[in-house]
Amino acid sequence: MSEKEENIETPETAIEDAESPVMTGQAPPPEPTSDTKVQPKEPEPTPKEEPVIVIRGLCKAFKDHDVLRGVDLHVNRGENVVVLGKSGTGKSVLIKCLVGLEWPDSGTIEIFGQDISKLNYSAMNALRVRTGFLFQNGALYDSMTVRENLAFPLRQHKKKMTAEQKEALIMEMLEDVGLEDSIDQMPSGLSGGQSKRIGLARTLILRPEIMLYDEPTTGLDTGTSHEISELICRTKKKYNISSITITHDMPCAKMTADRIILMKDGIVYAEGSYQDLERSTDEWIRSFFY
Ligand SMILES: Nc1ncnc2c1ncn2[C@@H]1O[C@H](COP(=O)(O)OP(=O)(O)OP(=O)(O)O)[C@@H](O)[C@H]1O
Ligand SMILES: [Mg+2]
Repeated sequence: MSEKEENIETPETAIEDAESPVMTGQAPPPEPTSDTKVQPKEPEPTPKEEPVIVIRGLCKAFKDHDVLRGVDLHVNRGENVVVLGKSGTGKSVLIKCLVGLEWPDSGTIEIFGQDISKLNYSAMNALRVRTGFLFQNGALYDSMTVRENLAFPLRQHKKKMTAEQKEALIMEMLEDVGLEDSIDQMPSGLSGGQSKRIGLARTLILRPEIMLYDEPTTGLDTGTSHEISELICRTKKKYNISSITITHDMPCAKMTADRIILMKDGIVYAEGSYQDLERSTDEWIRSFFY
């Protein structure tokens, strides 16, 4: 096995009947694709490995449909883990389990060292404030202006903040996403990309330490997707956010991933950097990079 391929990890804990990727030989370098201008994420100095999310043996079924069949996954502080997988493999279900929108049948989830199944209501709420979630179909509140949309989470969670402090924070977040001029606009007047950015600003305004992005670039054109991916990288750096990003958008994965997890049949099938996985000889893995 070549040095490169040793970097692609497969789960030791994979359930017995799960197909294992065959890692033999070194594939030729991939053909240039339309996203060749997208630079892979610059390797950053390895931060001290401090897991902020640890998922072990996570299983979730809906009636007799086994969706998650023993997922093991961790995220270190300051790391963005990109989750790839075909449609319907349980990627959204996985991150919904992290914020208590779905409850696993078995397995454990630790966030900041706390087993979330053991948290009471108020502890879970406190944890939710530290964990931002950009939904797959996350919409803004249509009847509120951009300012009101951003003020909404502050009204709920930052009751001690003065009106001036809130306004300053709203402005800072809008500057972060480059949309200060849209403060008085209604969501109906925003483009798809602008709505995503405002959605991100509304989530980041509570200064989450963890961000969960569910398909942040879906439905956007290539240029706008690129901008959102840049924004994910910029805000990650600025606020030292740890994150999981689910995406089908390979340029987004290439730009933002510190590590990539490939999900198949309800388990983690392979894991590695974008470059490692791109060079895999496993046909199924390679199919993501065509
Ligand atoms: N609340 C639910 N009740 C029943 N089945 C569900 C529920 N939520 C998800 N599922 C099923 O679980 C499977 C995984 O769904 P999930 O939304 O996690 O897929 P996904 O990997 O995010 O797909 P996509 O890439 O299309 O977003 C699907 O077959 C879906 O129909
Ligand atoms: Mg999904």
